[in-house]
Amino acid sequence: MKIGIFDSGLGGLAILKDILKLLPQYDYVFLGDNARTPYGGRSPYVIYEFTKRAIDFLIDNDCRLIIVACNTASAVALRKIQQRYLPDKHPAKKVLGVIRPTVEAVVENGGSHIAVIGTYATIRSNAFPREIRKILPAAKIYQKPTPLLVPIIEEGEIDWIGTNLLLKRYLKRFIEKNIDTLVLGCTHYGLIQEKIRALFQENTRIISQGNAVAEKLKSYLKQHSEIEKQLSQKGKRNLYVTDMNQRYRKVAQLFLKNHFGNRDTFSLIRI
Ligand code: DGL
Repeated sequence: MKIGIFDSGLGGLAILKDILKLLPQYDYVFLGDNARTPYGGRSPYVIYEFTKRAIDFLIDNDCRLIIVACNTASAVALRKIQQRYLPDKHPAKKVLGVIRPTVEAVVENGGSHIAVIGTYATIRSNAFPREIRKILPAAKIYQKPTPLLVPIIEEGEIDWIGTNLLLKRYLKRFIEKNIDTLVLGCTHYGLIQEKIRALFQENTRIISQGNAVAEKLKSYLKQHSEIEKQLSQKGKRNLYVTDMNQRYRKVAQLFLKNHFGNRDTFSLIRI
């Protein structure tokens, strides 16, 4: 059986890339729902319905364990999937998200003034503050939706002066408050981490997700040998998208960098 990775679009390939660096031996199925991306401005009901379909597809494709790499889907739909949908429909499967591993990385070094950026739906869900407060109840937590960053990153406009101006505008309050930790709560933001880093003092911790998710998956598999034993280890990966529009390859390349070889092709599925 395999490990499934799901994202609302192609940004989750950045998470897959970091997982592959650390755990290349397993077999992976990636599904990017790029026909419906972005999820970030959608309602909880719609995000839940889309996420359910993706989970069904990955389970039908022999995934034992699924990582919802999308923050929006993790923040809005995961609890209901774990508490209601799986026990009812797929009791032998496990679905994990990116909020918990990110929060674990946040709280490892404490922090008292923590800021979170993400999509509208992620911020509105309050998922990050809720999880952080379970461990750091006294922490001051600030949040801001930063919806324009996803399209800018997907257009490859990372070095554009406008991106810098926008970041300054979005992050002004956090810079003034001298926060000690900034959580990049979106699949895409790792690509502009350096730009964001440059706006804060050196001692501000910037928490990007790829590494954190990969490390936590590794320790999860160590702790759950009953799951690990069932995973096939041929180093294969199957990549699926829900749309093959003009731009999907270019966008995928942004997130994959040079990590994938020619043998990696995408297949189109309808869910
Ligand atoms: N993958 C989404 C996330 O991490 C960003 C793109 C979207 O809004 O669908 O929140």
